[in-house]
Amino acid sequence: MTIHRRGFVFAATMGLALGVAGSAFAQNPVIIKFSHVVAPNTPKGKGADKFKELAEKYTGGKVKVEVYPNSQLYKDKEELEALQLGSVQMLAPSLAKFGPLGAREFEVFDLPFLFKDRAALQKVTKGEVGKKLFDKLSDKGITGLAYWDNGFKILSANKPIRLPTDMQGLKVRIQSSKVLDAQMRAVGAIPQVMAFSEVYQALSTGVVDGEENTPSNKFTQKMHEVQKHMLATNHGYIGYAVIVNKKFWDGLPADLRAPLDKAMLEATDYANDISTKENDEALAAMKASGKTEITTPTPDEYKAWVKAMLPVHQEVANRVGAQTLEAVYAVVGDPRK
Ligand code: LMR
Repeated sequence: MTIHRRGFVFAATMGLALGVAGSAFAQNPVIIKFSHVVAPNTPKGKGADKFKELAEKYTGGKVKVEVYPNSQLYKDKEELEALQLGSVQMLAPSLAKFGPLGAREFEVFDLPFLFKDRAALQKVTKGEVGKKLFDKLSDKGITGLAYWDNGFKILSANKPIRLPTDMQGLKVRIQSSKVLDAQMRAVGAIPQVMAFSEVYQALSTGVVDGEENTPSNKFTQKMHEVQKHMLATNHGYIGYAVIVNKKFWDGLPADLRAPLDKAMLEATDYANDISTKENDEALAAMKASGKTEITTPTPDEYKAWVKAMLPVHQEVANRVGAQTLEAVYAVVGDPRK
């Protein structure tokens, strides 16, 4: 009797467990948590919201996308760990943030003065190199879906900066990339790795003196209110890899995957289409605020920045990997030649 009872309980529990597992994706709706660190009114923030809109529409509500902006759930490093653990399903970290995960090749995107413009950049992300870089993520439990643009970085500080020598001794916040570390050291600055969500506070309290970012990131974090000077160097690039937890994504039934793939394709076009305008408008708004002085380097000043920062390419070649570097140069040209 007892044995029978146990057997019954066992069978019932197993049945329930299998039933739940088997129907995990049949349940309505499937939730995709999409976490990111920037404001909703940025290229990435708007791209995430667009994906949500399209994914929910194309799956007829069978998928619900919850977007968590502004590091609401996780800061930079933690969000990658959360994705690997499956606590969130989708992220769009900047390409600079893949180095600490062991995918150092992504730091190629951080090299100063590598991409002359967005067209050059997109030849890389939309071509073979972009695909090969995504392959490096699969053994980390991550699938790369798309590259989203933000834009080119400008420098800021509380003292005027015109020339690389003006950076001497400044504590400058960087993302967690060895290439960015080398780049700041090349101009005599002291790089400080810090999560994006902490930058405004660190600038306003003087924990760091300056930082580099896209106009859109600076403006939406109100950095122009705590940085008196900016220099529009456009010396480097910030863009994103939209990534998902591989197990989750692979486990989605085909009738959901197809509409989600379509939603991602369209959200990608949208995010990439708006990125230039978003950054131009942010730059104009910061100028109009009168709270910061934005200078454009003269051609000679620009040359001085290029000269000071280009040696970084050689310095970090081993870290980024000769193969990746050569493959990128083959597409966009070697800026040292
Ligand atoms: C930063 O940390 O400065 C940026 O990567 C933030 C972002 O995601 O654009």
